[in-house]
Amino acid sequence: MELWGDGATKAWSIGFTFHDQEVPVVATDTIRLVSTGMWTPSRVLTNADLERMVDTTSDWIVERTGIHERRIADDDIGVVDMGCNAAHEALAEAGLDPSGVDAIIVSTATPDRLLPATACDIQARLGANQAVAFDLWGACSGWLYALNVARGLILSGQIENALCVATEKMSAITDWTDRATCVLFGDAAGAAVVQRSDREGRGILASYMRSDGSLAELLHRPPSSAQPIPIDIAEIAHRNGFIRMAGREVFKNAVRSMCEAVDAVLEQAGISKDDVDLLVPHQANIRIIEATAKYANIGMDRVWVNVDRYGNTSSATIPVGLHEARQVGRIRDGSLVLMVTFGAGLTWAGALLRW
Ligand code: UT7
Repeated sequence: MELWGDGATKAWSIGFTFHDQEVPVVATDTIRLVSTGMWTPSRVLTNADLERMVDTTSDWIVERTGIHERRIADDDIGVVDMGCNAAHEALAEAGLDPSGVDAIIVSTATPDRLLPATACDIQARLGANQAVAFDLWGACSGWLYALNVARGLILSGQIENALCVATEKMSAITDWTDRATCVLFGDAAGAAVVQRSDREGRGILASYMRSDGSLAELLHRPPSSAQPIPIDIAEIAHRNGFIRMAGREVFKNAVRSMCEAVDAVLEQAGISKDDVDLLVPHQANIRIIEATAKYANIGMDRVWVNVDRYGNTSSATIPVGLHEARQVGRIRDGSLVLMVTFGAGLTWAGALLRW
């Protein structure tokens, strides 16, 4: 078998000669998702349950957020367990043995421990002994950031494939006495295997990533390693590690930044809003999703929504949404999928994918 190719052009071809026949394999200038996977805990926390925990009503939660229930992982389940479950499904669909994975990039805001990276723990558990493994802190935007980092590593020729995982145990950093935040979040993990696309015009057609650290205080989680370790009980309680959010301000920024991401990726790809088959947005609040869809002129019948069932699972919302949409045939071969997200940082991102 003789390999041949031309790396000089942007969209180049490699192929092989088999029994004197040239067999071309198109190696494009982008990556594609080979497979997806997801995992959610079986334990359901309903709005009725929350009515018994804090001063709220199911009507308020549904009207302001669209959330009916969310999934909560058991105490003995961590993000490594969750991420591995999603990864196993993605690897199985890709037909990829863990030893063949080149990179594991993990997005999580809720690591089981701060050292080492969650990705390294997932690597060890999977037996992906040839991979480089690292975490990426992009909050809710983390999985789209991971996808774009994988794209860069693959297209620069450093790796051939990557496992991009988002695994979030938001219940562990939620203050269950704060009605303003505890109704919003849930636990989930999603994953995808990516590699260089072998079909022209298929895969990630455009990507966009932005951040604005000057707005970090709107959505953050103490403590900080810049502060000395607290020795006082009151101080420990003050730095309890729970998420804190200025909801209304985050809401406004969310709509603005997701709309910006919509425009950016469509313009980059030179594709019209009308051509989008499915919008898979970050799932934080149905009103934010509806406002983004309206801006993008995409009817809600072309929007993937699962915030009603899972709440906000941070960076896991998009890979979980992709996986579910594929399972029910809403994403098929050739579907044009627009993904947009935003989160703490503030961060925001978008990607356009031709499946
Ligand atoms: O992934 C990114 C993370 N975050 C987000 O995307 C969240 C973005 N923000 C939001 O989704 C919305 O701002 C919330 C759902 C968090 C809040 O909705 P809102 O319409 O902006 O309500 P609000 O914060 O302006 O509060 C309205 C009222 C307040 O009472 P007063 O001051 O008007 O008397 C709150 O105290 O609703 C009250 N409230 C509640 N009432 C019943 C706040 N939380 C609750 C609750 N149940 N759970």
